[in-house]
Amino acid sequence: MDKKEALQRIETLRKELEDHNYNYYVLSSPVISDYEFDMMMKELETLEADFPEFSDPASPTLRVGSDRNEEFVQVRHRYPMLSLSNVYSFEEMQDFDQRVRKELEAEVEYVCELKFDGTSISLSYENGILVRAVTRGDGESGDDVTVNVRTIGSIPLRLRGNAFPENFEIRGEIVMPFSVFEELNRVREENGEPLFANPRNAASGTLKLQNSSVVASRKLDAYFYAIPGTSMKQLSHFDSLAQAREWGFKVSENMARCRNLEEVRNYLDYWNEERFRLPVATDGVVIKVNSFQQQEMLGFTAKSPRWAVAYKFKAEQAVTTLSSVTYQVGRTGAVTPVANLEPVQLAGTRVKRASLHNADIIAGLDLHLDDQVMVEKGGEIIPKIVGVDKSKRHPMALPVVFVTACPECGEPLVRSEGEAAWYCPNDTGCPPQIKGKIEHYISRKAMNIDGLGAETVELLYRNQLVHDVADLYTLKVDQLIPLERLGEKSAQRILKSLDDSKTVPFSRSLFALGIRYVGETVAKNLASAAGSIDRLMEMSETELTSINEIGERIAASIRQYFSDPRHLHLIQRLKEAGITFTEENSGSAQLSDKLSGLSIVISGTFNLHSRDELKQMIEMHGGKNVGSISKNTSYVLAGDNMGPSKLEKAQKLGVPIINEEEFLRLIH
Ligand code: IVH
Repeated sequence: MDKKEALQRIETLRKELEDHNYNYYVLSSPVISDYEFDMMMKELETLEADFPEFSDPASPTLRVGSDRNEEFVQVRHRYPMLSLSNVYSFEEMQDFDQRVRKELEAEVEYVCELKFDGTSISLSYENGILVRAVTRGDGESGDDVTVNVRTIGSIPLRLRGNAFPENFEIRGEIVMPFSVFEELNRVREENGEPLFANPRNAASGTLKLQNSSVVASRKLDAYFYAIPGTSMKQLSHFDSLAQAREWGFKVSENMARCRNLEEVRNYLDYWNEERFRLPVATDGVVIKVNSFQQQEMLGFTAKSPRWAVAYKFKAEQAVTTLSSVTYQVGRTGAVTPVANLEPVQLAGTRVKRASLHNADIIAGLDLHLDDQVMVEKGGEIIPKIVGVDKSKRHPMALPVVFVTACPECGEPLVRSEGEAAWYCPNDTGCPPQIKGKIEHYISRKAMNIDGLGAETVELLYRNQLVHDVADLYTLKVDQLIPLERLGEKSAQRILKSLDDSKTVPFSRSLFALGIRYVGETVAKNLASAAGSIDRLMEMSETELTSINEIGERIAASIRQYFSDPRHLHLIQRLKEAGITFTEENSGSAQLSDKLSGLSIVISGTFNLHSRDELKQMIEMHGGKNVGSISKNTSYVLAGDNMGPSKLEKAQKLGVPIINEEEFLRLIH
């Protein structure tokens, strides 16, 4: 195929794929099969690889993402991203309406919209092409997450028609539909990974992932609700969104213009019930003054517009029967009671368990078996019991009595003064504590052991290969291979990763020990103040409390941990295995400040060093490795096959391009 033909075919495929994409994600009415779509996408991918000169930042092939690992660049918002003031009752809504009408001395028309519960995003379009997507951040500036946002099917990479402003921003909410959220958590639970508390956290967590092909697989969606700035000022808010819909944006069909408060009230009442039938989470209704002219007259406070307000829905409650109470033992030995319920539909999901937190809560509710209980869903994964209907209680019903012995190992429970939780003190013999401690030790923010998860820990424990974290370092390949589902490759990976873990910074090996109250930040402060575990062990409570952010409770817990001979023995064995328990020789040392203040983008492939090595060198010499080129970029370090769009951007912004040799000269 010659160049001309290729370009023609590429353009046809891009146009058709985008149309199909729009039909599928925005209109929800596909006209071709997934298979046909995939075939066209493959053809386009091949052509783009053969003719890189025709690359395009709006190509539908960018929607599949990539597994690069770059940091997000901070970008300042052209218009700050404000929040909304909240009202929680119709009376407060009336106050808002009165303030607005008094200020304007005129009648107002409102637009009522659903308040989508996700994470907000600001998109910039230039000549109809999506050029940047930035998170809210602190409202003034946020993260440039364009690569991730391009993977969201309902977000147009190229606008439809040509009636849009040359340059504009549009704001909306990125959401994870309930169905995607539940499936994601189901898989995470199966893999022993931590669950997302709600679709909002899942959406914002996904958007910040460093791997855009994982983002692509998570099936996010987005609704748009505002075009800030002056580009549409001759219209009203409602009409500007109707226009945006024409350009290909997903704008909710459930907006309504209301001429008075009565109509607003009807909207609120209707959606208070109906919202659970929506595919995505909503947490309220946003009421906005429709006329842009009136909006301008009302203006803003420091934090929010005076022309809009968010009416928050009340947390939904449901009544159901308490079937039983069971007890879970965590890695610290804390015993948490869980209520098992007759399944009931609540806030869009099916609920069969509720948290009871601790013994005092059970006593406070005066809970009996078979009680009719009221459950409420806040932001947590599992809902909580907020009340009991005692009038429905059977006279012979048995009260729920908190267990006195560990349900897992039988050890009598203890409770320290001033604490709400009961603990199983058998921390070296109680199975969930042993497994929990190992799971914590291997977790990403602790020793980050690749290839090991809750399931493998369970297998290792069940096969009596590990009883504590030091045992991990005695594992041999031929002990791992016979375990279910572990092949030679995975076994090697685990051992390699365990070996690598020996050099993690001291703050992480300290955090990994799982000392009560010693979280990530506390561990960092302790590590930099003490410098080594030997020194930390010697420190008195007074010395400990003089460290930044360490209070008496944490200090006492640390002293208690180090006064237990079993813990000292464990640390001794970890040291013998080679774990770093000192600040020195941990982490990457600073070699020079030759690159101090410089931001360097790496692009392409290199002959002498890997990209990771180059990245490390930049950092070790005081520079910063950033992901995408901006006017603040100091150099583009270019290897072979640098992307043509990056090249063009660097040239346009006048950013100097250097090769590998030139870079090495900079630091030597
Ligand atoms: S309008 C100037 N409309 O709620 C404020 N916001 O607390 C413009 N949100 O950060 C916001 N649905 O993330 C608006 N239909 C809607 C919304 C909405 C959800 C979120 C948005 C914003 C937050 C405000």
